[in-house]
Amino acid sequence: MLDVHDLTITFGPTTAVRGVSLTAAAGTVTGVLGANGAGKTSTLLGILARAPRQSGRITFDGADVTGFDTGALVRAGIALCPENRRLFPNMSIEDNLLLGAYGTGRATRRTRLRDTYDRFGWVATRRAEPAGRLSGGQQQTVAIARALMSAPRLLLLDEPSSGLSPVAVDEVGAVLADIARDGTALVLVEQNVRLVRALCATAYVLAHGQVTASGPVPELLSDTAVSDAYLGTTA
Ligand SMILES: Nc1ncnc2c1ncn2[C@@H]1O[C@H](COP(=O)(O)OP(=O)(O)OP(=O)(O)O)[C@@H](O)[C@H]1O
Ligand SMILES: [Mg+2]
Repeated sequence: MLDVHDLTITFGPTTAVRGVSLTAAAGTVTGVLGANGAGKTSTLLGILARAPRQSGRITFDGADVTGFDTGALVRAGIALCPENRRLFPNMSIEDNLLLGAYGTGRATRRTRLRDTYDRFGWVATRRAEPAGRLSGGQQQTVAIARALMSAPRLLLLDEPSSGLSPVAVDEVGAVLADIARDGTALVLVEQNVRLVRALCATAYVLAHGQVTASGPVPELLSDTAVSDAYLGTTA
């Protein structure tokens, strides 16, 4: 579904991502792990043409989308659930959701809202409330639901577990597993090893902007050098 080849991203003098290649298949969750500053967020932003690429070829669903801008990539079927959720706390839950379908027609927005409320019943009940009134885990679910409002076939997720209680992490994990079961490809940036174990068949480890290890998650995580150096203490 997604094939990233030799992606390099620089911010002025800083090279955030150096020659990263990765693939993600439909209906699976592909992990991207690494310490703070390893280049995880930059990789996701680079895929979406929201960070300056020095090199890199992006193939999505068999088509070369390297030259596409962010809007075209979203229309092609790629969505991002960003770091720190980025909901608008004073806006209603429904208005936050509608931002995910920005640029689509009224009928499409209405259909997608209905699909969202079918999937997340409690969100429908609370749709008029300000998003800021929800718990952290509920806000993360709304942030995921907002990303789904563009009807993506590839969903990029940047640390959805961050700041959540273990129970809330499990709930978010169940939501993501359900989305993958529907055939969507997920790329999951995470530092929470438990969530990676629960969801990801394969993963990539980034350090200093480079892929230093990759492969099936059980093998990758049993490598203590990998765990100690890059994955912190959340195992
Ligand atoms: N907009 C930017 N301008 C300048 N430097 C940046 C910018 N974004 C990221 N960087 C730098 O690029 C490197 C990689 O950052 P990035 O945010 O991709 O890491 P990360 O793995 O997502 O880290 P974290 O776990 O803290 O979210 C860091 O050195 C960071 O300071
Ligand atoms: Mg980050």
